[in-house]
Formats: sequence, structure tokens, C-alpha cells
Amino acid sequence: MNPVEIKKGIYWVGAVDWNVRAFHGHTYSTPRGTTYNAYLIVDDKIALVDTVLGSFSEEMLARIREIVDPSRIDYVIANHVETDHSGALPALMKLCPKAKVLGTQRCGDGLYRSYYGKWDFTAVKTGDSLNLGKKTLSFIEAPMIHWPDSMFTYCPEETLLLPNDAFGQHLASSQRFADEVDPCALWDEAKKYYANILWPLGQIIGKKITDVAAAKLKIDMIAPSHGLIWRREPEKIIQSYLAWSRQETAPKAVIVYETMWEATAKMARCIASGLIDAGVQVKIYDINTSDRTEIFKEMLDSRAFCLGSSTHDNSMLPAMAGFMHLVEGFRPKGRIAALFGSYGWSGGAVKDLEAMAGAAGIELPLPSLQVKYSMDDAQKAACYEMGREFAKRILSK
Ligand code: FEO
Repeated sequence: MNPVEIKKGIYWVGAVDWNVRAFHGHTYSTPRGTTYNAYLIVDDKIALVDTVLGSFSEEMLARIREIVDPSRIDYVIANHVETDHSGALPALMKLCPKAKVLGTQRCGDGLYRSYYGKWDFTAVKTGDSLNLGKKTLSFIEAPMIHWPDSMFTYCPEETLLLPNDAFGQHLASSQRFADEVDPCALWDEAKKYYANILWPLGQIIGKKITDVAAAKLKIDMIAPSHGLIWRREPEKIIQSYLAWSRQETAPKAVIVYETMWEATAKMARCIASGLIDAGVQVKIYDINTSDRTEIFKEMLDSRAFCLGSSTHDNSMLPAMAGFMHLVEGFRPKGRIAALFGSYGWSGGAVKDLEAMAGAAGIELPLPSLQVKYSMDDAQKAACYEMGREFAKRILSK
């Protein structure tokens, strides 16, 4: 695949990782693969913005060679230290050892601790800029989007924002631009990416977008470091980020449960029936057979969660406990939950769920429901009624 000129003199020289299926260890499933985007800017001086995962170094270097000899690179802009964007630096710097590397101080520290390269590093701050000839690169620190070291690079002459992890998607494609691919897949992956990577950082993201808007930077293209480039109407993804960062929700419920012998699963379906009959959209996931990354995407704009577990050793089951641990870390705001679960000779799961939902800041407007062994007709009716009653709280919130 050739490099792609995204603006005059600015080329995508990244790599497409078609078959990666787990990202960040195994915290994020990537059924559609991903890309690592690097951008080569050819002016009087030559700059490369970000690199790719180390195993794709040769692929990136081959694309650069289609345009210039890598030894001619004057500047390497490291927007972010994480290895999916910096992994090819050691291979690149062997070919252009005199190039200056620019990034935040934290990025410089992280690069050193990652690769121990003796590179000519210069720390930059918000407001600093680099003149390449006809084009300028301005730097905007963006701590926690996605790591403390992160920054955005902006080219005012081309009204181009290179925000690294922000506005990305894990989506492998032979196309480079967002308007060239299936919009359902594109937005599904953009939302999944925000939910699983950026959800806990919403306040910071909202403030950064507000600050950038206040600076009146004209942006007509956003080229992130994962996935497709937003070439048309980039304000749509900016507005989506603002809505997600404000934790705006729709009257929908996501039901997640773990079950041993199906009693808790049957409770989930009874509660779902009550919700659906009362007019609430529902999605149901067995945590052991479902994609957790997909569940968090669905939870991102859902107002309500129903969370259930059977009891095992006086506690909730382990997959549900791991899931609740992540929910706690995401710090969802303004959500309500209904809790349920079955047990044999002693309860415990529902008590654990109540503690973890409370720690996550989730409101519990209804008493939790527990069933010994399996539901009788009265308990089936109680689960159904829980769904109907919970629907009233969801629709009135
Ligand atoms: Fe795509 Fe935070 O790395």
C-alpha cells in the first residue's frame, strides 16, 4: 500500500494491523483490527509525526522511502510515548540519528525509559511551535488524552489537527478517510474506542475541547493515530466527544449478569421483559459469553444498568467481580442500577454488587432482588415488576 497524501505535502505513512484482536493486553477486543497512523510532513524541513508499533517499523520505513530517504528527516514529533505510537522510533532513529525528537517532558522521560536511546530530545509546551518552511507545527499539551505525556500537534496553514489517540477508532481498512468506509462500522468503533479508553477522562476531554474551541483554531481535518481520518465534517466527531464527555444518556438499559445454573439468567430475562413492556430499550449480556468491550460501548450512553450474579463462596462470581471493578474505574455519572441474583444456601452476591455499584457512584433506586435456587411464579412476577418499576425511574430521570 502506497503512502497517501492527506494534505499537500503531508502523507500518511503508517501501518494497518488487520489481525490484532486484543489491545492493551487483553483489556480491549479489536474484532476489526486497527491502524497505527504516522504522518510525514515534507517542507523545507521534514518532520514525522508519530510512528507505529515496533513490529511494523519496516512497513512505515518503506512508506517513508517512497517519498524521501528517512535520513533526511529533521524532526520527529512524539505526541505520545505509548508503544503503539513510539515502537518504531529505535529503528527510525538509526537512519536519522541527528533528527531532533520533540514531545512533552513526560514523553521524553517515557521514551528514555522505554528505549534508552541517546536522541536529541527537546521538550515542548502548549504554545510552542516549529517552523518547517511554509508550514508550522504548533503543540498543545493534552495530559490524560490518553496518558499524562500526550499532546496534540496542529498545522495552522493546513487547518489540520493531529491529536494522536483522541478521535481514533480501532478499525483496519484499505481506505484512509472516514467518509470512504461503512459509517455504521466507523461510528460503532469510534464510540467503542471512547467508551473503553477515554470514558473515565471525560471531564479532561470536555475541558480540552472547550479550550481548543476558545483558541479559535480552524480545523477542517482531524488525523488521529488510530483508524480513519476525519476529512469531512470533523465537527461531528468533536460534538460526539463533547456529548460523551458530558455523560449524556438515552433511556436505555444494559443488563449484565453471570450465572451458574441459569437461575440468575432467567431473572435477567424476566426483568428485561418488564423493561421492554414498559417501553425501555434493552440489551442483555451474559458476561462469560459476551465481548466486554462491546458491553462498555453499549453502557456509554445508557441511563440504566441491571447487574446480576449468582452467589459462589458467599460472593459474586469472578467474571462479574472483574467487570464491576472496571465499572468502578469508569466512574459513570448520573446512572441508576437494579441488582439481582440467585443463591443456594447463603446469599452474598447481591451484597457485593451493592457495594461495588455504590463505590462506582451508581444510584440504586429499588431494593435488590434475590432468589433461592430458582424462581417460583411469585418471584417471576416480582422480577417482571422490578423491570416495569425500573422503567418508570429510567423514563422519568
Ligand atoms: Fe494508541 Fe495511548 O496509545
